[in-house]
Amino acid sequence: MFVNKFGRATLGLYSRIIVPACGVDPSNVGRNQISWAVACKKRSLWLQMNTEERTQRHATNHQVSTRSVHHTTVDPAELKRFQSLAIKWWNGNGEFKALHAMNDLRVPFIRDNLLNAHKAQHPGKPLAGLRLLDVGCGGGLLTEPLGRMGATVLGIDPVEESIGTAQLHSSYDPDLAEQVSYRTCTLEDLSADVAEGQKGQGDVLFDAVIASEVVEHLADLETFIFCCSHVLKPGGSLFITTINQTNLSYALAIVAAEQILRIVPRGTHEWEKFISPVELERHLESNGFSVQSVQGMMYNPISGAWSWINSTAVNYALHCVKLAEESEPDPQTGNPDNSAATEHYRENTQKS
Ligand SMILES: C[S@@+](CC[C@H](N)C(=O)[O-])C[C@H]1O[C@@H](n2cnc3c(N)ncnc32)[C@H](O)[C@@H]1O
Repeated sequence: MFVNKFGRATLGLYSRIIVPACGVDPSNVGRNQISWAVACKKRSLWLQMNTEERTQRHATNHQVSTRSVHHTTVDPAELKRFQSLAIKWWNGNGEFKALHAMNDLRVPFIRDNLLNAHKAQHPGKPLAGLRLLDVGCGGGLLTEPLGRMGATVLGIDPVEESIGTAQLHSSYDPDLAEQVSYRTCTLEDLSADVAEGQKGQGDVLFDAVIASEVVEHLADLETFIFCCSHVLKPGGSLFITTINQTNLSYALAIVAAEQILRIVPRGTHEWEKFISPVELERHLESNGFSVQSVQGMMYNPISGAWSWINSTAVNYALHCVKLAEESEPDPQTGNPDNSAATEHYRENTQKS
């Protein structure tokens, strides 16, 4: 009897799961004179056709913009890790305490560099009129203060749960309703949408892109930088904060911070994904950026505060600008000629 009940329950469950997927109820097979094998074969042919069509559509969407069809920036293990922490973003004394504190350095770093190029128009809202993209925004710890300074900020993150937290948190501040919006997606998805938007002549490009503590979690840095450039206006700024790949960064960011002091959850960082400023600059320059400044940062776990330091041996912040696209390579070095965009940046800097 137990076996019969179990059998019926299993068949019930089986048909509930399989029927929508295959379109044929196995319990009807005999009655409808349809062979189960034939039905499933038809279904798999239909699926195969659909997959080919979807792949083709995907490839066409991306033709205009990127090589991202074959390259994803996403490392699924990283997403899983951040998914499990998604409700903790706004606990100022929890796993993201150091990121909360980092705002004391990174917010003025972004603001001041942007103000060098764009004159403030509104008292009290220095970033008014600027469109910013916060890539890998997590719970919106950095997105919100940038929005409060008057910028229109889009925060994107591939982890849906984090975007849910970010949306919920910003909804408590009515002043942010007009300034901040969020979307669950990758940068390569957004880059493809920007390419579509450009065809419609819309104002789709950003004045600045911010990737704070993100590049050390990617599967493909080159594609990420390429897409950053693709969504930026010429002369626009890219801000990155990340961790250098040194023995000291292994000792401090992994052994001390994760394993001894537990400031960051164990397994958050992989040393192999850390990157030196020199290597990062090389990637940026080969993708048409001109690096403007690199500054070392240090976290004091006792005071819980960050400060600027000369050494970039562990944490650092970098600011670069996207060069004008028509730059010709320098005939002597073969490197892109940076003078046009650098001039554009300098002119704006001098005006302000
Ligand atoms: C250390 S957190 C930094 C969050 C936020 N930028 C901040 O500083 O408060 C890293 C974030 O990068 C996101 N991330 C991981 N892989 C990503 C990818 N391929 N593209 C964009 N974001 C990614 C994670 O989901 C996570 O929210």
